[in-house]
Amino acid sequence: MSDTLLTKREAGVLTLTFNRPEKKNAFTHAMYEAATAALKQAATDDEVRVVLLTGAGSVFTAGNDIGDFMEHPPAGEDSAVFLFLKALVDAPKPVLAAVDGPAVGIGTTMLLHCDYVVASERVRFHMPFVQLGLCAEGASSLLIPRMAGYALASELLLFGEPFDAATALRAGIINKVVPAESLQEVAAERARTLASRPAEAVRVTKELIRGPRREETHATLAREGAKFIERLGSTEAQEAFMAFMSRGSKK
Ligand code: COA
Repeated sequence: MSDTLLTKREAGVLTLTFNRPEKKNAFTHAMYEAATAALKQAATDDEVRVVLLTGAGSVFTAGNDIGDFMEHPPAGEDSAVFLFLKALVDAPKPVLAAVDGPAVGIGTTMLLHCDYVVASERVRFHMPFVQLGLCAEGASSLLIPRMAGYALASELLLFGEPFDAATALRAGIINKVVPAESLQEVAAERARTLASRPAEAVRVTKELIRGPRREETHATLAREGAKFIERLGSTEAQEAFMAFMSRGSKK
């Protein structure tokens, strides 16, 4: 795979670790491509029963790398970020996530497509799309209102302020909150347990849960994607990115 996406396969569990801790595991093109390839391979590999997503260094991910956004903005539906989201939406086997530290942008929205999410008590979710001059992505504009209701969905997406594990539980984004020191152990146990269940029954059940909404989810990804690409080129977004990138010199 690649240094920035570690893969480990054990007891039917394929663990994908976002591994760019010096940049808070911010996603580059290469990471999306590696994660997409791993998800696609997992779909057809009989030895993989479930996929577990996690981040190195007590961080899930700071979302899309902002420098990468400026240098290689996604240009269409076949861009690396959209292909990753599509692969996640289409994943036929359960995808679990163990989330610690910051989970920003796509770091929060990718969880909407996971089948079981364990978070640490110190997790910080954040969808700062509006502050960045962008808009909702990852089918969050469809799924969060459905999961959390309009009031909380609008609060999380419009104000775009960080939120804690209790709020994420209330929003229905995560399943369980555990102390940080037991996060990986609890997530690994859940993954192994699901991997030991009859594989075809698990697959059929996931399909029954997700299948009826998949088409609508893809349509939302496409609608949001077109707006997101437009927003990336906006003065609002460019100013927000420049402000983030120039922070280093002010530290
Ligand atoms: N893109 C590019 N670089 C990023 C990044 C991102 N999304 N998130 C963090 N980094 C980099 C920082 O620039 C910094 O790099 P440097 O050491 O070369 O200066 C390094 O990762 C560590 O980040 P830092 O901000 O110092 O850590 P922190 O613990 O104080 O804060 C975050 C962590 C995640 C809260 C903060 O980095 C952040 O808000 N990042 C931006 C998240 C974002 O807006 N993502 C896009 C969503 S669409």
